Amino acid sequence: MQKLKVLFAASEAFPFAKSGGLADVIGALPKAFSPDEVDVRVVIPKYGSIPKEFVDKMWLVDVFYVRIGYTDVYAGIMTYKKDHVTYYFVDNEYYFKRPGLYGYYDDGERFVYFSRVVLEMLPFIDFYPDVLHCHDWQTALVPFLLKEQYQHHYLNTKTVFTIHNMKFQGRYGFHDLQGVLNIDYLPPSLEYYGEINLMKGALCSADLVTTVSPSYAEELKDPYYGEGLDGVMRDITYKTVGILNGIDTSVYSPKTDPHIYKNYINSIEKKRMNKTRLQEDLGLPVDPQVPMLVMISRLDEQKGIDLITAVIHEILQLDLQFVVLGTGNSHYEYLLSDVAATYPNKMRSLIQFDEPLSHKLYAAADLFLMPSKFEPCGLSQMIALRYGAIPIVRETGGLRDTVQYFNASEKTGNGFTFATYNAHDLLFTIQKAVGMYHHDPDNWAALELNATKSDFHWRKSASEYLYFYKKITGNIKI
Ligand code: GLC
Repeated sequence: MQKLKVLFAASEAFPFAKSGGLADVIGALPKAFSPDEVDVRVVIPKYGSIPKEFVDKMWLVDVFYVRIGYTDVYAGIMTYKKDHVTYYFVDNEYYFKRPGLYGYYDDGERFVYFSRVVLEMLPFIDFYPDVLHCHDWQTALVPFLLKEQYQHHYLNTKTVFTIHNMKFQGRYGFHDLQGVLNIDYLPPSLEYYGEINLMKGALCSADLVTTVSPSYAEELKDPYYGEGLDGVMRDITYKTVGILNGIDTSVYSPKTDPHIYKNYINSIEKKRMNKTRLQEDLGLPVDPQVPMLVMISRLDEQKGIDLITAVIHEILQLDLQFVVLGTGNSHYEYLLSDVAATYPNKMRSLIQFDEPLSHKLYAAADLFLMPSKFEPCGLSQMIALRYGAIPIVRETGGLRDTVQYFNASEKTGNGFTFATYNAHDLLFTIQKAVGMYHHDPDNWAALELNATKSDFHWRKSASEYLYFYKKITGNIKI
């Protein structure tokens, strides 16, 4: 049987370059396909921040030039193979040798360039994919360009576009990108209220559109979640599907995790040792009985920080300890640090991004807080479950698809949930959870067991993607 050829195009991939969950997905999903069935390759920009240990191992495949406006611009294609996956890195120092990944005035131009290179590099790498799988606005132009300008070159290539976050769409004034796009009128599929919307271009042009959870796919058709593209999402229902992300179970395993104080599996006692050691390290009162509530998050509006700050003093009246880890909006950073200073025996705000420390917190936590306003998938709640930290989440997007309210009479469910974006509903849910922890050890043990048994392996997601790859390439009839 012929192997299916798939090329992932994205703006980040762990462990090379990461700003968020997208990188984790691009780092893990390709590995989850069986190499006998699928030849998956990945292309990302060669950022200046890619660690030297990887750069040293890359080699140059070829060099060519792409037309951007009136200029022919250099493109070097570097490559490196890791865990059966071939990675390509687009080298152009002018565009990508800068600190960080995004946030530049010319981000639009940088990713127009990247998208064009993705399409023009195929003969140079001698790889003509059956499926070109693009992710988020940075590569949203690829399905559009393939359809409008390159179709006769790649007759057998289908495109998949995955929405990881509808909030970022790549919206630009027509005149900002007209030159670099080499267009003299605004095509309807890119047009959004007289401007350019790259994500809309992908939604209209791709053969298949996916979101990172089934609930998010539904939500995006609603103006509350659709960020202005809910109408388009309603129109393309026939080619849209939600496929839940997984987590890298070899990295996130309390049994083998090298970063945590004490490895454990099915042992509340050993898990509690992680809590008391963390309490010591953070200078909190050492007490295995007090429930530890943890939040590990980007501190921004999406994550529901407003709900927490609205009832923070009430939360801290409960018999618990609360530890927050993350960076983001400085307003939240100051606010949380201030509150933590007011409750030195109950709360810590760790305003930093620290991967090993985050593992220690998952291992120490009894409860994990994630009351997002919207959440396309969310990875932390799945990691928390694996470490036996019981999630308290709002029922939205991927949170709704991964966490179910614990039902004490049937002993089903793996966490605590609430529906409305309302601070007192959150408070009430935390009170319930803390109450069960203190007063109902039998149900708590049943809940812990359900949590650690939740299965979010990438293999599941990969087999769903494969089914749809086959469907759009005509390899199977449905
Ligand atoms: C984005 C979303 C998050 C999702 C991740 C990976 O960061 O906000 O919910 O888990 O992409 O798909």
